[in-house]
Amino acid sequence: MAEDFLPLKGIDHVEFYVGNALQAAHFYRMVFGFNIVAYRGLETGEKTRASYVLEQGRVRFVLTTALTPDHEIARHSQLHGDGVKSIAFEVADVEAAMAAVKARGATIVQPVATSRDEQGQVRTGVIRTYGDTVHVFVERRGYGGVFLPGFVRMEVPAPQSAGLAAIDHIVGNVELGAMNHWADFYARVLGFEQLAHFTDEQISTEYTALMSKVMQNGTGKIKFPINEPAEGRKRSQIDEYLEFYHGPGVQHVAMNTRDICATVRVLRGNGVRFLRVPDTYYDRLTERVGHIDEDLAEIRQLGVLVDRDEDGYLLQVFTQPVQDRPTLFYEIIERHGSRGFGVGNFKALFISIEEEQRRRGTL
Ligand code: FE2
Repeated sequence: MAEDFLPLKGIDHVEFYVGNALQAAHFYRMVFGFNIVAYRGLETGEKTRASYVLEQGRVRFVLTTALTPDHEIARHSQLHGDGVKSIAFEVADVEAAMAAVKARGATIVQPVATSRDEQGQVRTGVIRTYGDTVHVFVERRGYGGVFLPGFVRMEVPAPQSAGLAAIDHIVGNVELGAMNHWADFYARVLGFEQLAHFTDEQISTEYTALMSKVMQNGTGKIKFPINEPAEGRKRSQIDEYLEFYHGPGVQHVAMNTRDICATVRVLRGNGVRFLRVPDTYYDRLTERVGHIDEDLAEIRQLGVLVDRDEDGYLLQVFTQPVQDRPTLFYEIIERHGSRGFGVGNFKALFISIEEEQRRRGTL
């Protein structure tokens, strides 16, 4: 049992480095239903980068781009394409958090720094995690501004909400052989516990093979699965990610909804493309997961996946990658008791793909 020496209040925000933050902000607004709430850039006296803060439910994304070619953000975008740079945790005491993780071997990117404006002050510290990804600790005790000092409120008409409520989990892809190192990092440095371990036997198909360990913090609110590729008959999706991202990074961010059918209808209407689910997936659904409250015809029509474990069931969908490189994508998840990650869907999807092949006589 790991001691919770590092109380994390939750995920404060996720920051993405992108090639064009203004256009990305409108993509997230118009397609995923986020409100654009704050801005920092040339007009606010920031000369080298521009950032937009977006919110939906308790999800907060920050999209940042470089304004100069030799900026670290520009180099990050050139190497990785658009992707997640930082996952920030809210803490009550950033000095204590940074001292604790430093003593446990964290690599410090930025020691505790204070930023101020007329709304108050926020203190942050930054450490490394896999690849070029970092974790930021944010202490915003009583800060009254819109996001962080230096940001100004932005008034942009609200889009139709997609009903996204919170971040459920964030998955990292790491190199072959590195999963245990990073699972150990989260245990040793951040005091996380291992919630689950999926072997390549459990998550392997002819098309994909991967291993995964799910790490979660002391309160169970923050869950980080860590994937590594395993030998498959074809190049796995993890290998493809590592090739196009040029190293480890965030593979997907899963967000909760209370009504996945409504969310998927809005997102499909906005042009979001999801992973295709073979129709045969639904032929064995009731046999596999038993009774669910949702309308099966609608679940099938919208391509929603279902999985069950001893605690209950979950509904999930996966988007296609949201940039030109086949790297970052999103998961939408609705939980009914299950605390799992839909591992049963991998094999079910594979079986249904085989059935389609059998029908075509190509198996
Ligand atoms: Fe997931």
